[in-house]
Amino acid sequence: MRVAVFSTKPYDERFLSRAANASAHALTFHEARLVPATASLAEGYDAVCAFVNDDLSRAVLERLADAGVRLVALRSAGFNHVDVAAAEALGLHVARVPAYSPHAVAEHALALLLALNRKIYRAYNRVREGNFSLEGLLGFDLAGKTVGVIGTGQIGRAFARMVHGLGCEVLALDPTPSPELDGIATYVERDALFAASDVVSLHCPLTPETYHLIDEGAIRRMKEGVTLINTSRGQLVDTRAVVEGLKDGRIGRVGLDVYEEEGDLFFEDLSNRVIRDDVFARLQTFPNVLVTGHQGFFTEEALTNIAATTVANLDAFEGRGGELHRVTRAMVV
Ligand code: NAI
Repeated sequence: MRVAVFSTKPYDERFLSRAANASAHALTFHEARLVPATASLAEGYDAVCAFVNDDLSRAVLERLADAGVRLVALRSAGFNHVDVAAAEALGLHVARVPAYSPHAVAEHALALLLALNRKIYRAYNRVREGNFSLEGLLGFDLAGKTVGVIGTGQIGRAFARMVHGLGCEVLALDPTPSPELDGIATYVERDALFAASDVVSLHCPLTPETYHLIDEGAIRRMKEGVTLINTSRGQLVDTRAVVEGLKDGRIGRVGLDVYEEEGDLFFEDLSNRVIRDDVFARLQTFPNVLVTGHQGFFTEEALTNIAATTVANLDAFEGRGGELHRVTRAMVV
């Protein structure tokens, strides 16, 4: 199968080439993001392989269908960036990698929480400059604190188990509670979770219902000084409201691996350019904000699994056995 791979970084090429080695698929790697202007690169290909910030709106899908593409193979679990209804109407199949390593993302959420609380990023820079003062580095014991986990799918459950192991009381919110968390977490309503949690960590998908789940009203209902962690999707959070919450002290710390407008920033080296996003720039001015550039998935194990499942999706689509991990309209909330 001829596959045009978009948004390729050297690590994508390394892991995908290794996984496709024994297969009959011919992968062509493009650094470019998939956007209307680059969709023509898919001309003559059977499939495109896309990542989280590729544009899979109706306009792009129409161009892909016209170019002869039959399969969109996502290298991600999330599919909020795909117009699935349009894909189905155009006869395009969409596949994803439903699970590759929940531990990778859950451990990154924990890393953000621990680093923020004990200000490891500030301590690292101070010590390198010979500044051994502790002023400003005061943290709190996580043991005994209450952590609210929103979304207890594979990643949320892994995270809940981790913080439970640290001695935290865990509150959970999910329309489908998981019996796996019996004895580990207590399911509560949204407002009860906001009111009681010292830490709120987001692990639900982005849907119309969860868009700006954390807005001004939600922040007002949270404990003063709350620590907010988002490793799920940027648009779960109204970043402007978070900036206001940080300014007036209602939010104590923010750890983000995702950002509302990350499509124009993340995964690229922009260190020689001017950042034009004022909200993002404002976030960077707070000493109690730690942002990473969507690296939750970035472990050896996760990349190996993403590549293996992507190639398995291509195999299954060609009828070589195995399961095609389809994204269908019924899955869109
Ligand atoms: P999952 O599908 O296993 O779990 C999602 C859970 O959220 C489900 O239990 C679902 O019932 C729940 N949920 C849905 N709507 C909700 C709502 N309104 N309130 C509370 N809970 C709700 O997904 P998984 O694998 O745990 O991934 C979670 C999210 O993590 C993904 O949707 C994706 O956005 C994000 N992610 C981030 C990565 C990163 O690199 N930072 C990598 C992989 C995923």
